Amino acid sequence: MYGMVNQGVREYILKSYGEEVWAKICSDADVQNLEFDRMASYDDSVTYKLVGAISEHTGLSSDDVLRVFGEYWVEFAGRSNFGNLMRLSGSSLVEQLKGLDNMHDRILISMPHLKPPSFELEEGEDGLCQLHYYSEREGLAPMVIGLLYGLANEAGEHVEVKQTAFKSNGEDHDIFEVKLVDHQSDHMTSGHAN
Ligand code: HEM
Repeated sequence: MYGMVNQGVREYILKSYGEEVWAKICSDADVQNLEFDRMASYDDSVTYKLVGAISEHTGLSSDDVLRVFGEYWVEFAGRSNFGNLMRLSGSSLVEQLKGLDNMHDRILISMPHLKPPSFELEEGEDGLCQLHYYSEREGLAPMVIGLLYGLANEAGEHVEVKQTAFKSNGEDHDIFEVKLVDHQSDHMTSGHAN
């Protein structure tokens, strides 16, 4: 993966645990770099090894590490040179989810070795959507859950996310049920009929 991902992991650990812990994590993961070139490609194993070492260090499961990192990524990438690409996809969560492939396609122009994921959104009744996630990689579904909460947070929306199909269980791809929690219905019940 591009170094930007590993830099995001690094920044998260530096902010939450500091330099010494980061150095220890890199050494436990047998990763030589303490920093990464954002625009260079690294073997995926570097990222997976870092996640494993963070899990060992924090006691969080690897899935939880990925979930937390996914949520952090939205803020981290939002501050990067690519941040506008994400914001220009739309102001609501649904618009952003529809624009994800387009956004990664634009990133591909600057990062030609990118192997982006692909998403497909099915919008249902009552704010219930199905998000299909396709990837060449294994094990990153928990990160998608974190990303969804992060995106919803940036958009000022509330969601409940549940994974309903698992590639890791032999299903074709991962599917998430995304429930948009409607806050409109909580108010404006003034009793004045008109
Ligand atoms: C400006 C914002 C973003 C940037 C710059 C960005 C960039 C990247 C980069 C560099 C990778 C590594 C892939 C590689 O190097 O081959 C990646 C992977 C990924 N991105 Fe994005 N991304 C952004 C936003 C998002 C958002 C909002 C989502 C929400 C679902 C998302 C979902 C993913 C997933 C799931 C992967 C893992 C790769 C895989 O599944 O195979 N990204 N992205």
